[in-house]
Order: sequence, then structure tokens, then C-alpha cells
Amino acid sequence: MEIILHKTTPVEARLPLLVIGLIEEAKDNPSNMRLTGPLADMAEKIIELGDFKGAEGEIALVYSLGRVHSERVMFVGFGKKVEVTAERVRKSLGVAARKAREMGVEAVGINLTQLALGGLSPNDAAEAAVESFLMGSFHDPFHKTQGLDKYKQVKELHLYSPYADEELERGAFLGRVLGEAVNMCRRLSWGPANHVTPSKLAEEALNLQELGVNVKVLDREDAERLGLKSFLAVAQGTLEPPKFIIMEWGDKKKDTVALVGKAITFDTGGISLKGGEGMELMKTDMTGGAIVISAMRAVAQLGLPLHVVGLVPATDNMPSGSAYHPGDVVDTYAGLTVEVISTDAEGRMILNDALAYASKNYKPKAMFDFATLTGAMSVALGEHTIGYFANDDGVAKRVEDASHTSGELVWRMPLWDVYDEQLKSDVADWKHTGGRPGGAITAARFLSKFVGDTPWAHFDIAGLMEQKNDKGYNPKGSKGPAVRLILDVLRNW
Ligand code: BES
Ligand code: MN
Ligand code: ZN
Repeated sequence: MEIILHKTTPVEARLPLLVIGLIEEAKDNPSNMRLTGPLADMAEKIIELGDFKGAEGEIALVYSLGRVHSERVMFVGFGKKVEVTAERVRKSLGVAARKAREMGVEAVGINLTQLALGGLSPNDAAEAAVESFLMGSFHDPFHKTQGLDKYKQVKELHLYSPYADEELERGAFLGRVLGEAVNMCRRLSWGPANHVTPSKLAEEALNLQELGVNVKVLDREDAERLGLKSFLAVAQGTLEPPKFIIMEWGDKKKDTVALVGKAITFDTGGISLKGGEGMELMKTDMTGGAIVISAMRAVAQLGLPLHVVGLVPATDNMPSGSAYHPGDVVDTYAGLTVEVISTDAEGRMILNDALAYASKNYKPKAMFDFATLTGAMSVALGEHTIGYFANDDGVAKRVEDASHTSGELVWRMPLWDVYDEQLKSDVADWKHTGGRPGGAITAARFLSKFVGDTPWAHFDIAGLMEQKNDKGYNPKGSKGPAVRLILDVLRNW
């Protein structure tokens, strides 16, 4: 999508569609519309007719019939003035973006003036507009060969603001980078397991080399040599070549931050086989890895003044004659031995090696991991909130702050050592699962054994792998969760 800034009012625009936000207070006093001329007349009319109140989520499409040069005007309700936050703008414009795409409109103009009514700076308004428009209009035909003419895309986004300057352009650029990162994550996460293989993820990572990212892809033999035994235990059951992907960006003299993402390209459960119903959703069990690859891309595009390391252990989890068994005792990169209880708890088996590898070889100032780790987390918090665990209040504070700016909801979960009781093993240092009670917590406790003294946060995104219906800036499919959240952590570093 091309993004074009105009230092004019949208009245001059000659586009198929103009999008204009209205707050609820517009009905009390026309000056609250921040519109003049024919656009103000239109807004006043729909309010007078009682067709539109400016409430959140309201949309009114008006055909301009020559009153302005643009063919259509879409008024979007923002709710009360004080509620016009970045997230409100994103949600409302996300819906408008989807409508625009569904209408088959190829160029859309947005007036930024109304976006800043609640106190957002013009730059932040531009960022939110571009970001939400990219996210909301996202629509991928994936592997369809028929009916492709229905897959129209909005090709041009025009932004109108009297404040258009270099800073506003930077805001629009930020919005573009973040929106595209989310869409990249969605595309990879929703891709089927026979296409989005570990090799495909490695290829996506290698593509980042053109942005200056250093990429190393370890295969089975390399991983063997390094002693990534726990990762390989999961990978030993599949014919699909596993990859341990290492990405590195930025100046080593700057603060190092490590990102780790679970990339089980398909989770059958292994020998502890899952039930068949709904198993196809386990194609998204590499969402954590997709988050890390997409975030690395954005970090490089933004040129953040940090040293960021991204690790993505990627493999299928399959039952086969060579698969690991329940009861196996497995060595790990950290040197601890682990008793396997359920081969379906494969995520923590590949993550422990990646976390230990990162903390030992990079000694990061902070480490973040992303994983569709436990059904227990999705039972606890549902589909709206990311549960996270942190061994350090400073890291937790960064997460909370990023949650406020990105609008991605998070909830800190307990990481108390009393839960270790459930992980005691008679034959190894630790069992790798602790039964049903507090399943997300014992999983996090297990991971905590492998991070050394690195300040660390673990995000269990199991509840957020799927968006079931179009909503706000999330179309049906993958939500692309935690991408903007972690990018806000890194931008505010
Ligand atoms: N990938 C799953 C977690 C998952 C389940 C995510 C459902 C989204 C929806 C993970 O590998 C898994 O199977 N976890 C087990 C752990 C258990 C065996 C301790 C689970 O949650 O049931
Ligand atoms: Mn599993
Ligand atoms: Zn899994």
C-alpha cells in the first residue's frame, strides 16, 4: 500500500472514498466536527436526521454526488472526545479499512484532524491511522486459485493534515512498519504446515539479510554438535528438516535484547497424540516464531539503536517410529536433565534450549519469549489477553508500558517457586510438566530454570492464535499477536 501525505484539507481530494471521524460531541456543537464547507454540511445532515451519533463503531456512508470531488464519504464514530485514544482510532479505522477493501475501493483518504481531538499528537494519529488501516484491510487469498477477483486491495492511502511535515511523515512510516510486521506475522502463522515448514521460516529469516540482519540457520547436524538435545528430542520424530534460526541485528556495543519464539510448524502432540477435532489449528503453533521474525524485520527497518538477537527453534512435532516417548529422559543445552511426561508439551522442550542458548551466548540485558504454550493459559484468560510471566519487575514494567501504547492487553501471572513441587522428578532434574492445576504457571516455572539470571518475560499466547470473526483491526484469521507489543518495548528502550 502506498502512503501519501497531503498538507491540505480533504475537500480538495479527488478519491473514490474519504474517511472522516466524528466524536459524539459533534451533535452538540458543529465546531466539534472540525469540518468546514460541504463536508460539514454532510456531517450535520446525517446527525440531524438521527442516522449518526458519533458513537464508537458507527459508520455512515454518504455518496457525495458532486458536493465534494471525492465520490464517497465514510463517517466513522469515535465516541466521546476524551476517549479518542490511539487504540480507539485503531479500532474504528480498522473497521473502516475493512469496509473500504470489501467495497473494492482502491484509494482512500483519511482526515487526520479528527484523530487528534482526544489529545493524540498529529504524529501518533498518523501512526495509528496507517497501522490500523494496514491491519484492518489485511486479506490474503493464501492458496486460492479461484475467485481471486474478489481479493481486492486498497492500494493507496492518502493522509490529510495541516500539520504535514517530516515528523508526521515519520509517524506514518512507523505505522507502516508496525502494520506490515503484524501482517507478516499473520501470513506466516495462518499458512498451512505443508507450506510454512521450518525451511520456509528459515528462508523468511534469510530474507532479512538484505536489511542488514545477520542470519544463521542451524540444521539437525549443527544442532547436534552444539548440544541442543532438548530441541532435537522433539525434532527426532519428523522427516521435515528442523531448523534452529539465529538472527542478529544492530551494534553489539548497544544493549542486547533477546527474542525467542516457539515455532512448532505443526503440533500433533507426538506419541501423546492430540484428539483429531480442530487439530488443523495447530498449524499456528509457530506463531511465536513468526512474531520474532516479523519483529526482527521491523527492528531493522526502524534502525533501532539496540543489539537485538532473535532465536527461532523450528520443527514439526510428529508421532513416528523415531519419535521421543513419554518417560524419556532428555539432556538439555543448559546441562539439566528432563523427564518427558507428555510429548504434547513439546513447546517447553524446544524453548528451554533456545533460552539457555541466548542467555549463555549473548548475556542479554533482557530476554522475551513468545509461545502458544498451554491450553491452560487460554482457559484462564481467554482470547483477549496475553498472559505473561516475569522474573524481574523492571522487565514487567516495560511490558505494562508497551501494553498501554500498543493497546495489546496483558496480565501478569504468578511465577512463585512453590509451584516447583509439581515438577519434581524421581529420575531427572525436572519433570517437564506438572499436571493440570496451574498448567500455564508450571510451564513458565519449567522455562525459568533455563534463563540463568537474565531478566526475562515469557508470553503465553495460546489463547490468541486465532481471531474467529472480523473485529476492529483484526480480520478473521491470525491476530498477529504481541508483534506491536514487543516492538513498543524495543522502541521505548
Ligand atoms: N500448542 C499446544 C498448546 C495449545 C493448545 C495452544 C490449544 C493453543 C490451543 C501445546 O504444545 C500443548 O499441547 N500443550 C499442552 C501441555 C500439556 C500436555 C501439559 C496443553 O496445553 O494441553
Ligand atoms: Mn503440544
Ligand atoms: Zn504446541
